[in-house]
Amino acid sequence: MTLYLIGIGLADEKDISVKGLEIVKKCDRVYLESYTSLLQCSVSDLEEFYGKKIIIADREMSEQGDEKIIAEAAEKDVAFLIIGDVFSATTHVQLFKLAKENNVKVEVVNNASVLTAVGVVGLELYKYGKVTSIPFIEDHPKLETPYNVYHENLSLGLHTLFLLDLKPFEEKFMAVNSALEILEGIEAQKKEGLISEEMLVVGCARLGCDDFIVKAGSLKELKKFDFGGPLHCLIIPGKMHFIEEEMLELWK
Ligand SMILES: C[S@@+](CC[C@H](N)C(=O)[O-])C[C@H]1O[C@@H](n2cnc3c(N)ncnc32)[C@H](O)[C@@H]1O
Repeated sequence: MTLYLIGIGLADEKDISVKGLEIVKKCDRVYLESYTSLLQCSVSDLEEFYGKKIIIADREMSEQGDEKIIAEAAEKDVAFLIIGDVFSATTHVQLFKLAKENNVKVEVVNNASVLTAVGVVGLELYKYGKVTSIPFIEDHPKLETPYNVYHENLSLGLHTLFLLDLKPFEEKFMAVNSALEILEGIEAQKKEGLISEEMLVVGCARLGCDDFIVKAGSLKELKKFDFGGPLHCLIIPGKMHFIEEEMLELWK
C-alpha cells in the first residue's frame, strides 16, 4: 500500500517513464494534478494509454483532499500524477510530508521539468538565479516581486527564469507578450529603467514538445512575436559566457 508521486513529463501521454507507467497500471486509484501545468494531450489520451480511469485533482481537492489521498494510500496503491517533475515549481512536498507523518509508504518517480527543459536555450542552468512567477495583473495590480527578483539576479550576473501564470480550469494562460508588458509596467522599473525595449530577452513555448519554440531578440521584437499556444515562459539573461551568447544566436 503505497502513495506514488509520479512526474509525467511535459508533452503528452508518452512522456511518462516506463517505471512510472508500470506503477500506474498496477495502482487502484490514479489522480492527476492539473492546476499548475498543462500537457499537449487530453485526459482521455492519458486514460487510453495508461489503461486507467483518471480522477482530476483540482486546487481545492488537492489542498483539502491531501488527507483523503493519504487515507486511501494506507489501504491501496494510489498514484498521484504531476505534469513535469514531482517537486519542481509546485507544492507537492505537502503530500509527501503528510504521507511520511502518517507512516504511509511514499515513492517518487521523477521526470523532466520546465526547470531543466529550459536548458535547450543554451544558458547554463547553474547560472540562473531565483526563479519567479508573473501573475495575472488583474489579480496583483501592485505587482513588484518578479521585477525585484530580476533586479537581484541581475546584480549577481545571474539569468532569470519567469514562469507565467495560468488558470487551466478557465483556459487562461499567460503569453510571453503579456508577461513583457506586465514587466514594463511595474512602477519600480519605470523609475529605475532596468527594462528597455532594446534589451535581449528569450521567450519559450511548449518546451519538450515537438513544436517547441525558443526565440531570442529585443523586448520590442518579442512583444510582437507569435509564440502560439500555451505553455510559455520567459528568460532574461544575466552575464553571458561567449558560448551562451553563441547559443542564443541560434534562436534569433
Ligand atoms: C508551476 S510550473 C510547472 C511545474 C511542473 N511541475 C514542471 O516540473 O514543469 C508552470 C509554469 O511553468 C511554465 N512551463 C511549464 N511547462 C512548460 C513548457 N513545457 N514550456 C514552457 N513553459 C512551461 C509555464 O510558465 C507554466 O505556467
